[in-house]
Amino acid sequence: MLRIHLPDAAATEALGSRLAARLADACRQAPLVVHLEGPLGAGKTTLVRGLLRGLGHTGRVRSPTFTLLEPYELPRCEVAHLDLYRLADPAELDYLGLPDMLHPGALVLVEWAGKGGDRLPGADIRVALEYEGEGRCARCEAGSSRGEPVLAALEPAPAAPVPPKNHP
Ligand SMILES: Nc1ncnc2c1ncn2[C@@H]1O[C@H](COP(=O)(O)OP(=O)(O)OP(=O)(O)O)[C@@H](O)[C@H]1O
Ligand SMILES: [Mg+2]
Repeated sequence: MLRIHLPDAAATEALGSRLAARLADACRQAPLVVHLEGPLGAGKTTLVRGLLRGLGHTGRVRSPTFTLLEPYELPRCEVAHLDLYRLADPAELDYLGLPDMLHPGALVLVEWAGKGGDRLPGADIRVALEYEGEGRCARCEAGSSRGEPVLAALEPAPAAPVPPKNHP
């Protein structure tokens, strides 16, 4: 599990952008599902905005609070951004067309994933956002072996090797 402090909204967006390229790679063979957890206003949509920007989306990023789903067709993958806060019954996911979204090349990002119950596929990656002081904190963990290489993008770069001393 990786714990990352996010001092401001720009840091939350930057975290999304850092994950973008690896997410696009990871969903090529099979759909990849990311669960975004955390209380109201924790920064879930902000993270998705950074991610979409990282994937080259330049238009608006609307919160799917009322529509429940915002789809994006991007050059590297198709993104389904879901917000299940207002989902009355997990069965509504079928009406939203979730089964059709689960194909290779699809990235499925779900806010309030808990409301989807068993109808929602398990998370390949789970990001839990929490309030922390003036900012937020993100806890990121892989839920499948396909999620693991994505989170490796967040590991700090290994320290440069110390050059051997040249003894005279
Ligand atoms: N790391 C951060 N520090 C401070 N403010 C942040 C941070 N990340 C995001 N915010 C701000 O928090 C507010 C809410 O963000 P956002 O809409 O992304 O939350 P959300 O988790 O999607 O909420 P909801 O549960 O209502 O969908 C926005 O004003 C955003 O700019
Ligand atoms: Mg939101």
